[in-house]
Amino acid sequence: MVNCLIVGHGAREHVIGETLVRGGANLFAFMSFKNAGLEDLSKNIKIHSETDFQEILNFSRKNKIDFAVIGPEAPLVVGIVDALEKGGIPCVGPKIEAAQLEGSKVFMRSLLEKYKIPSNLKNKMFDSMEGVESYLKDVGQENIVVKPEGLTGGKGVKVFGDHLFSKEDILEYCKELLDNKNRFLLEERCEGEEFTLQAFVDGKDVIGSPLVQDHKRAYEDDKGPNTGGMGSYSIEDHLMPFITQNDVNEALADMKKSVAAVKAETGTEYKGFLYGQFMKTADGLKLIEFNSRWGDPEAMNVLPLLKGNFVEICWAIINGNLSKNFEFEKKATVCKYLAPEGYPVNPKRDELITIDKKKLEKIGANHYYASVYREGNNIYTTSSRAIGILGIANSLEEAEKIAEKGVGCVEGKLFHRKDVGTREILQKRIDHMKTLLK
Ligand code: AMP
Ligand code: GLY
Repeated sequence: MVNCLIVGHGAREHVIGETLVRGGANLFAFMSFKNAGLEDLSKNIKIHSETDFQEILNFSRKNKIDFAVIGPEAPLVVGIVDALEKGGIPCVGPKIEAAQLEGSKVFMRSLLEKYKIPSNLKNKMFDSMEGVESYLKDVGQENIVVKPEGLTGGKGVKVFGDHLFSKEDILEYCKELLDNKNRFLLEERCEGEEFTLQAFVDGKDVIGSPLVQDHKRAYEDDKGPNTGGMGSYSIEDHLMPFITQNDVNEALADMKKSVAAVKAETGTEYKGFLYGQFMKTADGLKLIEFNSRWGDPEAMNVLPLLKGNFVEICWAIINGNLSKNFEFEKKATVCKYLAPEGYPVNPKRDELITIDKKKLEKIGANHYYASVYREGNNIYTTSSRAIGILGIANSLEEAEKIAEKGVGCVEGKLFHRKDVGTREILQKRIDHMKTLLK
């Protein structure tokens, strides 16, 4: 048996852990909160900071870990893979230099510019207010997105027309970022429909998985503040009604070119999982961001459909000999996130959650623990998303029904978006795309 370590405490890590166990692994988990799902799946766990690399090495050696899978971005962008590999533990995840595809938007945009990757967006980096006003004048303030350079948990990006409504709003936000010692990008705002393409990468080859669409906004009908993602769906043909196989091929080609560019620029091979968020616009595909990991919630849509052995795929990533000898079930999925009331602005922490697992099983819905913690037999909220409920079925309609029924099995001071995965919201997106492409 292979001893696999998962680092991370959320729903993404829960589903990665589940998929490793399905592939025959003995699972071990190192996490900053006690994820009840990972605790139940694991032979041994440790609750400790996910960026204390020495402790992770100690735990790995004690448990004779064969390889580690790194779930979240925070340890990746500060070099967990370099530290563990130096200590003799192979990892599935990019080394620090390669992880800057997510860690630094400035690095990512300038790399894509230098290597002429077609889906890159026009942008300019600023580390002072000098030149900001004249740039706004040149490109038009209504065409602007403001992005802090580093990680913001999906909550730092502000888009003109959504979060910023005047030149003054833009200038104020730029100053706020500088006051907090953040460089920022002014990026071209584009309009279209977004999709997530998650891929396995072995340094050279990039193998894609079914497309997913996330719902970033906190409230129904895409209203309210941005969040880490309130829910997501995928369709049985692995595409989206507004995205063609040609679009996917184009997106994959750009991901492959970006992986090659990382190697050419830094000398480091990108290995692990690569998350490409693209927008289809009237002007073609645009890359919105790269993440150096699985998406959360999007990992829950894809990994349960994997028909190959995930442990073998991880070995192939480590050894640099990945081949497309695995598939995904032709099924639709809907994931709905339950978040604490008040999330993301003022979430209710330390609130009890109860889950009727028998009923969930009867309904056929999967549940994944996110940022909650177990104390005794009880589960409590933290300040972030609490539980992901997943429906899998032959059609989107059926998968949505299962997810919605599953949500009814969880009680606590929580809310969710009922519209995720519904026909109505999908139709809206199809109509939006049609209008843009006219
Ligand atoms: P990010 O954290 O980069 O994924 O951005 C969060 C959200 O802001 C994305 O999901 C998009 O909806 C939106 N966004 C980011 N960049 C752009 C852009 N250049 N044009 C339009 N919308 C954007
Ligand atoms: N769902 C967006 C992310 O994982 O970044």
